[in-house]
Amino acid sequence: RFRMTLQSNSVSVTATVSPLLTKLKRDCATPLPVLEEVADAMSAQMRSGLALDAPTQLPMIPTYVQNLPTGNEKGLFYALDLGGTNFRVLRVQLGGKEERVIATEFEQGPIPQHLMFGTTEELFDFIASGLAKFAEKESDKFHLPPGRTREIGFTFSFPVKQTSIDSGTLIKWTKGFAISGTEGRDVVACLNEALKRQGLNMRVSALVNDTVGTLAGAEYWDNDVMVAVILGTGTNACYVEQINAIPKLQGHVFPSGRMIISTEWGAFSTSLPLTEFDEEMDAASINPGEQIFEKTISGMYLGEIVRRALLKMAQVGGLFGKSVPQKLTMPFTLRTPDLCAMQQDNSVDLQAVGSILYDRTGVESNLSARKIVLEVCDTVIKRGGRLAGAGIVGILQKMEEDSKGIIFGKRTVVAVDGGLYENYPHYRAYLQDSVTELLGLEKSNNVVIQHSKDGSGIGAALLAASNSMYKHQF
Ligand code: GLC
Repeated sequence: RFRMTLQSNSVSVTATVSPLLTKLKRDCATPLPVLEEVADAMSAQMRSGLALDAPTQLPMIPTYVQNLPTGNEKGLFYALDLGGTNFRVLRVQLGGKEERVIATEFEQGPIPQHLMFGTTEELFDFIASGLAKFAEKESDKFHLPPGRTREIGFTFSFPVKQTSIDSGTLIKWTKGFAISGTEGRDVVACLNEALKRQGLNMRVSALVNDTVGTLAGAEYWDNDVMVAVILGTGTNACYVEQINAIPKLQGHVFPSGRMIISTEWGAFSTSLPLTEFDEEMDAASINPGEQIFEKTISGMYLGEIVRRALLKMAQVGGLFGKSVPQKLTMPFTLRTPDLCAMQQDNSVDLQAVGSILYDRTGVESNLSARKIVLEVCDTVIKRGGRLAGAGIVGILQKMEEDSKGIIFGKRTVVAVDGGLYENYPHYRAYLQDSVTELLGLEKSNNVVIQHSKDGSGIGAALLAASNSMYKHQF
C-alpha cells in the first residue's frame, strides 16, 4: 500500500499512452452504421445457414424442439447442465397448469480444469457420478410412480448436430474445451454409457442447448418469448422458426409448424470491428479462426482482450512505469469479473482498481494509469455489449421480414441468461442502448430484453417432460 501511494504521486503516463488508447477506441468503435451492418449481416447469414446447400458461417441447427412447454407438464424430472464453467444438476416436480413448479432442488460446481483436456470417458464419468450423488439425496417432496425410469433433460452447451430431440453428435468443442475423440460422437450415448457405469437407471429424454433450455424455461411463464440468448463464458442465441422457412429440413420433418433453431451465432464473423489484440488472441487460441463473434463479446475473452491491450500500453507506452510486470504477460491473468469489479469503483483515487490490478498482475499503478485501465475496460465492454445488441436485432429483423408484425407489431420478449449479462451492469446497459438505437423508440418499446435467471435447467426438464416416454400416462 505504501509503495502504491508513492506511485500515485509520480508523473502522469497519459501523454505516452493516449495515442494507443485513441487507436483502441477507434478500432472498437460501434457507431450506428456499424451496428446496422452487423445486424443486417446477422439476418443474411441466418438465411444462408437455413438454406439447403448450407456450408455457411452460422450452423443454424434444427433442434427438433417443435413443441414448447404448455404448462400441463407433470411429474418428476431431472436436468443436467454441462456448460462452460459450471456443471449443474437439478430436479423438479412439475404440477401441471395449476401448480406449475411444486419443488426444485439443485447443486452446482465448477468443472475441474483438467477434464477440459482429458478424455471423453473422464468427462462423462464425472457428470454421471455428480448426477448419481445428487439422485441419492432425493427428498420426499419428489414423487415418481413405481416402476418408472427417471428422465433427464440434458443441457449440453456446445454445437451439436441433432438428429432427433434425444440424440445428436458433437460438431466441435468451443469455449476452451479440447477433449479429443468426442467430435462426431453421440453425446447422449456417451452419457448413457457413463450412467450405466454408475449403475444408474436414468434415461435422457431431451438433449438441448442452453439457449434452447432458456427459451423453453422462459416461455413456460411468458408466451411472448420468441428468442433466447446466452451471454456467459460463451454466447449463442436461439429462436422460434417456421418449419417452412427451413429449406434444409425439407423431407426430414412434416413441413408445417415451428421449430427452435439454435443459431450458434458465436461463429458469426462478418463486419465486426476487430483490433490487433483480437487477432493475436484468436491466433493463440485452441480454435483459431473460429467463434469470432464469441471471442469479441463473451465472458471467456473480454478480460483477455483487455490484458493484451494493457500489455501493449505497458510495453510501448510505459503505462506502469519503466518495467513490464511479468504476470501481465501471462494469458488470461485478467478475467472478465475483474473488469466488472474495476468498473464498479467510484472512489476518487480508484483504490479498488489499484488493488485488483495488483492482485491479478502484480502491477503497481498511479491514478492516471488506473484511469486509462478503466477506459480500456469500458472500450472493450462497450463494443461487446453493443455488438450483442446488434446480433439480437439481426435475429428480430429476420423474423419480422418473414412475417410482418410477428415481432414489432406486438410485445416480444428476448430471454437472456449467462453470468456476463447477469453480473455486469455496464455490459447490460450497452446492450440495451444498442437495441434501442437500432430499433428506434417505437419498435423498441415492444421488444423486452429480459433476464431469465437459470431458466435453462427447468427448461430442459420441461422438454424432457414433453418428450417423456410416459407422456400419455400423466
Ligand atoms: C458456445 C457453444 C454454444 C453455447 C454457447 C453459450 O458458443 O458453442 O452451443 O450455447 O457457448 O453457452
